[in-house]
Amino acid sequence: ATPSEPYDALIIGGGPGGYVAAIKAAQHGLRTACIEKRGSLGGTCLNVGCIPSKAMLNNSHIYHQAKHDFKRRGIDVADVSLNLPVMLKAKEDAVTGLTKGIEVLFKQNKVDYIKGAASFVSPTKVSVKLNDGGETEVEAKNIIIATGSEVAPFPGGAIEIDEEQIVSSTGALALTEVPEKMIVIGGGIIGLEMGSVWSRLGAQVTVVEFLGAIGGAGIDEEIAKQFQRSLSKQGLKFMLNTKVVSAEKKDGKVIIKTESAKGGQEQELEANVVLVAVGRRPYTEGLNLEAAGVELDNKGRIVIDDQFNTSAKGIKCIGDVTFGPMLAHKAEEEGIAAVEYISKGHGHVNYHAIPSVVYTHPEVAWVGKTEQELKAAGVKYKIGKFPFAANSRAKTNLDTEGSVKFITEAETDRVLGVHIIGPNAGEMIAEAVLAVEYGASAEDIARTCHAHPTLSEAFKEAAMAAYDKPIHF
Ligand code: FAD
Ligand code: NAI
Repeated sequence: ATPSEPYDALIIGGGPGGYVAAIKAAQHGLRTACIEKRGSLGGTCLNVGCIPSKAMLNNSHIYHQAKHDFKRRGIDVADVSLNLPVMLKAKEDAVTGLTKGIEVLFKQNKVDYIKGAASFVSPTKVSVKLNDGGETEVEAKNIIIATGSEVAPFPGGAIEIDEEQIVSSTGALALTEVPEKMIVIGGGIIGLEMGSVWSRLGAQVTVVEFLGAIGGAGIDEEIAKQFQRSLSKQGLKFMLNTKVVSAEKKDGKVIIKTESAKGGQEQELEANVVLVAVGRRPYTEGLNLEAAGVELDNKGRIVIDDQFNTSAKGIKCIGDVTFGPMLAHKAEEEGIAAVEYISKGHGHVNYHAIPSVVYTHPEVAWVGKTEQELKAAGVKYKIGKFPFAANSRAKTNLDTEGSVKFITEAETDRVLGVHIIGPNAGEMIAEAVLAVEYGASAEDIARTCHAHPTLSEAFKEAAMAAYDKPIHF
């Protein structure tokens, strides 16, 4: 093949969806290129999302423990203090290490990495404005759009983000000082994760949420209440059923205006920094989709069928820019499946078995149906619960907050949903995902030997509670 020949697969966007698709395509013997304009691979997730936020969550948790929790463990440390520049540098190092790692994977797998912004010329041709200057055209037999998402602006332009005082998640990951007072607009996952970080580092954080519960879409209502209690104990304040209507900078502060979600009852709040975390939206700017005949829906998402095909022949689409939850692992699964449709004619993503994790402390994780969804659908179900306070490992770790909740089909004992709040919930949920994927019953899990003493015994005992009775509670 010569460079001028069409590629077998061209991926637009080098985020978790795009880079995984590119590597898988090359592994399947397709001549592959990936176009990314950011100047760094890994997309939102590695550069300004999952990875830097988890670095800050982990280190702020350790700092908070050193300051407030070490003493009762018999660890006396003098003068615990925050060195924010070093903490931010550790975050940057994690990001750089991982994004550079993907470049190495591209080389190993012989994926051509084209640094620039792609724009369709036709359904099979893309022009690229190169980051180093100049322009080139690339042709391909198959194209996968994986251009991801961006921060949704505040409706009606009522709040302008400056990334210093009024920040999105990107600015909240890079504050150079701990604000005295921080207001978080939106009690979804970003608001709670970033709110936790700055609260642990010393800010007084107030989360203002339009809905009556925190945690965003898909969280079980009972878990959401437990979650709010946990975070409140840590010092975060919540204003639920409250809508932020505006934010204005005044005398070095930001003044927020709120009203009750049902209307009326206006209030003013003051903060040093405001985080706007009201959601993300699909990103297709500059792609010139009209030239390819790719259609969008009324929310700006690229429309696809169940095999990731857009309305244009030969063009598929995956990840945040199309339907479904905006999660890195969902984008990755789609990347692999879309490539398998190209190389083998079939692929598969089980949308009933996609986990959600909130990386606070305690962590919150779930998969499958919530209790409120099953109630609304009229499904007969059983609940099995087990608290970490009755788990030996959680007790030895002095980390007992939370519980595991199984929801099973009453008649068949099949696992319909698992909802965990507690230490390591994000790792533990993998077992629940496997159960849902394999159509396991609670009894299957209850009869599976779990090592002692581990947190995973709480998982097993919650399954026992669903189909019979647990031992330790
Ligand atoms: P993206 O990661 O957005 O990547 C798309 C890429 O395409 C971008 O790099 C962009 O520069 C590039 N691009 C766009 N247009 C063009 C063009 N015309 N030409 C060339 N390149 C282009 N998800 C999780 O699962 N777990 C988490 O813990 C988590 N934490 C998050 C924390 C934060 C603060 C944020 C903001 C998000 C988080 N997410 C998390 C969500 C996750 O980042 C996204 O779901 C994921 O990145 C989506 O992957 P993607 O490949 O679809 O798109
Ligand atoms: P979100 O949609 O989860 O939450 C936004 C919240 O803001 C909602 O609860 C909404 O009711 C509230 N809101 C909207 N307008 C408001 C107003 N005017 N006043 C008060 N509240 C208002 O969006 P978020 O948190 O920005 O996250 C975006 C995406 O990023 C999510 O889809 C999530 O999947 C992804 N993400 C995933 C993470 C993870 O998996 N751990 C971490 C961070 C982000």
